[in-house]
Amino acid sequence: ESERTFIMVKPDGVTRGLVGEIISRFEKRGYKLVAIKSLVPSRQLAEQHYGDLRTRPFFKGLVNYITSGKAPVVAMVWEGRDVIRQSRAMIGATNPLEAVPGTIRHAFSISIGRNVIHGSDSFDSAEKEIGLWFGKPGDLVSWEPV
Ligand code: CMP
Repeated sequence: ESERTFIMVKPDGVTRGLVGEIISRFEKRGYKLVAIKSLVPSRQLAEQHYGDLRTRPFFKGLVNYITSGKAPVVAMVWEGRDVIRQSRAMIGATNPLEAVPGTIRHAFSISIGRNVIHGSDSFDSAEKEIGLWFGKPGDLVSWEPV
């Protein structure tokens, strides 16, 4: 019943100092951080991550943006009950102007191209994205409170 999802603070979220706030929201909700790293993703990683969007007009700009190196992304894996669906609710709609008050995107953005955070949208994309970003043995550390 416990599951894992991939969450990424995008460069705009890092630049604006929102990493701590975002981690806090997930921790306080009761989810468990099982992997985290800060990096500038390679083009190949970004294109694989956003592979489903490669025919969309904003694809190139999106990949250019997250690989630019102006700021890193913070990639994470969170674990817990229903975390895939619950994290989508915590994050809010892709377009922050449509996000419900209380969500991360509503609280911190008004721009679809600078919407602060990414979260896997399904079990299959969570599996795929976790494997892409944290594919080495030992990258994920599960733990239990003492
Ligand atoms: P994300 O959840 O990371 O998934 C794909 C991203 O594409 C999305 O958030 C947006 O930041 C970005 N994007 C940029 N422009 C658009 C657009 N017009 N429609 C949808 N997504 C967009």
